[in-house]
Amino acid sequence: MTEKVHITIDGRTLDLPVLESTEGLNVVDVRGLIAEGIFTYDPGFLSTAACDSKVTYIDGDAGILLYRGYPIDQLAANSNHLEVSYLLLNGELPNEQELAEFEQEITNRMPVDKHFQHIFDGFTKDSHPMSMICAAVSGLASLYHEGFDIYNAEHRRDAALNLIAKIPTLAAMTYKKSQGEEFVDPDPSLNYAENFLHMCFGTKGEAPNVSPTIAAAMDRIFILHADHEQNASTSTVRLAGSTEANPYAAIAAGIAALWGPSHGGANEAVLDMLSEIGDESEIENYVGKAKDKNDPFRLMGFGHRVYKNFDPRATVMQDSCHAVLDELGVEDPLLKVAQKLEKIAREQEYFIERKLYPNVDFYSGITFKAIGIPVSMFTVLFTLGRMPGWITHWDEMLSEPFKIGRPRQLYLGPHARDYTDIKQR
Ligand code: SDX
Repeated sequence: MTEKVHITIDGRTLDLPVLESTEGLNVVDVRGLIAEGIFTYDPGFLSTAACDSKVTYIDGDAGILLYRGYPIDQLAANSNHLEVSYLLLNGELPNEQELAEFEQEITNRMPVDKHFQHIFDGFTKDSHPMSMICAAVSGLASLYHEGFDIYNAEHRRDAALNLIAKIPTLAAMTYKKSQGEEFVDPDPSLNYAENFLHMCFGTKGEAPNVSPTIAAAMDRIFILHADHEQNASTSTVRLAGSTEANPYAAIAAGIAALWGPSHGGANEAVLDMLSEIGDESEIENYVGKAKDKNDPFRLMGFGHRVYKNFDPRATVMQDSCHAVLDELGVEDPLLKVAQKLEKIAREQEYFIERKLYPNVDFYSGITFKAIGIPVSMFTVLFTLGRMPGWITHWDEMLSEPFKIGRPRQLYLGPHARDYTDIKQR
């Protein structure tokens, strides 16, 4: 029996159906309100479900994150990024043959057309890597546009494989460009994370030399970033995709949204913040700034729209961070500042009552720094990890009937008025 919600406006009672979820909150279907001349109002979408989806589920209070029903800690401990990509795209874990074929397909598609690589000639050593990766992914649309039918499932799968395969290569190219070094081609003998590290830190023409521990930690970080339901960048991909835009362009829109320090840009902002704080003696001063309503400073890497207990990814990320630092024997003073900051945030009322806990970005930045990734590259790594999630949501939307996203507004502007000649103004 479908529940209903009754709202009474101007003496009229409207019955709105309640749609039931398999996990988490049910939703009130407000689509019928426009016929009654009524809008809902929810800037920032705090109480709005923009779509239905079967991909990822987050329980913010319980600190639960499921990819197609599988808990993130189990996937991080037992799976790898390409198997997780297969799971997100197809809805089920692959058997051995399916995984082998998928991995081979991705390996075969990792190389980027030599002519296309000249897109990087337009940038300088100082160009921000997020600007480069956004342009490069958007540029892929120039290779895969003619004849692309977004309603053809095979065409959509081809785009998904291309994007998952080429994002590590393009990401490594942005790194090499920022270092002023020659690009390194992918090596088909390496796994996904090893190949990315080889293309970043290897030298053209030389045999790969990648630490298995670092590659395993990097692969785990990609898993943690693979999807996160309707976050700002995924919602951007869905909105851009709802206009029937080229998928590479829709994904580039998501990359642009991810760049912001309130979203994926936070991992870069965390390092900038820790460096600005400098050492433990300055922490109280900065915590005071974070609490000060008149000060725009926020503790980057803390807080989350959905997680109000803890971010399960941060817990796994912290373990990876320690594994990498132990492997490299790195005594990073910024880690000590980070650990002291986390302790203070867990003890002080301001953070506890606002449920501000470390999120996935808090430890990822320290880990990337220890590996030798420049701070400006951190959000590019987030882009790499999130690629399967974005393209899965795009594909999910396109595989069912959908409408172009077109929000309405609460208008607060002037009433209608007549144009006046400039001499009368
Ligand atoms: C990601 O959506 C996703 O799933 C995103 C993501 C993903 O995987 O896609 O998880 C990735 O983006 C993680 C978040 C990374 N961003 C940061 O670490 C930046 C710092 N965090 C904040 O900017 C903030 O916490 C947000 C943006 C993450 C969430 O903001 P909300 O939900 O809109 O909360 P809010 O701004 O309304 O804050 C509520 C209160 C306010 O205080 P009051 O007005 O109630 O007194 O908490 C305070 C805020 O001032 N607050 C903070 C704070 N975050 C919120 N105060 C100090 N430091 C912070 N970081």
